[in-house]
Amino acid sequence: MDRRAFVKSVTAGVSSIAALPAAGQILGGTFSSLRDDLRTARDESGFWARVRKEFLLNPSLVHLNTGTLGATPRKVIDAISAWMYEIEGDPASNVFGALGGRMEEVRGKAAEFLGARLDEIALTENTTSGMNAVAQGLSKSLRPGDEILTTSHEHPGGSVCWEYLAKTQGVKIIQIPMPAPVSDRAQILQLISDHITPRTRVCSFSHVETITGLQMPLAEIAAITRPREILLVCDGAQAPGMLRIDVKALGVDTYASSSHKWMLAPKGSGLLYIRKEAQERIQPLVLSTGYNAYTAASGTRNVAQILGHGLTMDFHNAIGRDRVEARCRALSNHLRRRLGEISALKLLTPTQDELSSGIVTFALRTGKNQQIYERLHSEHDIVVKVVPKPEYNALRFSTHVYNREQDLDRTADVLAAMLRA
Ligand SMILES: Cc1ncc(COP(=O)(O)O)c(C=O)c1O
Repeated sequence: MDRRAFVKSVTAGVSSIAALPAAGQILGGTFSSLRDDLRTARDESGFWARVRKEFLLNPSLVHLNTGTLGATPRKVIDAISAWMYEIEGDPASNVFGALGGRMEEVRGKAAEFLGARLDEIALTENTTSGMNAVAQGLSKSLRPGDEILTTSHEHPGGSVCWEYLAKTQGVKIIQIPMPAPVSDRAQILQLISDHITPRTRVCSFSHVETITGLQMPLAEIAAITRPREILLVCDGAQAPGMLRIDVKALGVDTYASSSHKWMLAPKGSGLLYIRKEAQERIQPLVLSTGYNAYTAASGTRNVAQILGHGLTMDFHNAIGRDRVEARCRALSNHLRRRLGEISALKLLTPTQDELSSGIVTFALRTGKNQQIYERLHSEHDIVVKVVPKPEYNALRFSTHVYNREQDLDRTADVLAAMLRA
């Protein structure tokens, strides 16, 4: 019996995956039927209804928390399952043979997805690990009293790495107090310039802020940092798969992201970009033996998951990355408009296109965010995010390609009723 037939015979006995095709069969034209259907979709709503069919989300669920975790397309999950079965037929030969070798194709796709060179991209587990790699890789060149400039709106995944260096090496963290909402781009740039000192070695900012969804003007920030040889380190957890990314145009020195959010990849998938010219200054252990997915320093990897990570990039490309961004933004604007009509809510996200994204955040003037979150979930099957800054008493809403206008309208109606009561 050949390997494919064997995989099929094994899976045939397992009811939940009895219909699982072999990985090669899934991959043959993974998203070709999606591409064909999208080409002939009768209108915009037909287009997005077809895209929505690719997901395993519970039909009644309104998932407005892609900022925490996205939903992975069914075909990606099927392919990962098939690869896992295939691997177990001959584990060592598969993981360290041709199948495992295909992880490098994923790195190539990732480089293209972010606008980087292949030798600037590593496949990681998440943003936190990427940020830690950068900070640890830099640690030898930092002295006590050197300053890391960051903001009061960073996620722990982008800040614990600096806190550790502050504790162990005496570097100083300077936090810009971020307004919510910021008034305009000039305000951000002024705040940054005002906080840079001769001791600033690193500026560490989110690309899209976890609190308000603010999109930082990175290219303009790079124009401030690069001439001063300050390293611009970016926490990109919330951007790839939502915004079209070109790390070269952004001018960042490093970019760490979590593909399991907006890129809709399997959980535990991330990317790390380190600009070629910055690689001398940043030498993390995990990259010390090269950027390949399998190296002496990175060790054995989860091949099936990494190949699935690559498939999610094909998924975005099948729809069109500009189209995905436009859809995330259009849905976010729709929700912002509807929630903006509720007097008990106050917008914390900037309104300008260039400063906003697929995330919108509102503070509650009445009621408690945690309680409203729980009621939305338990009574209406609507999942949002409690903003982890109690002083704002806010809720965050993320909108991706599987969300629909009617679900956003229902969310607004339900919230309006709850906040009136
Ligand atoms: C801005 C930002 N950075 C980092 C993280 C952490 O991501 P991960 O847990 O995938 O490392 C998050 C998660 O929400 C985030 O929003």
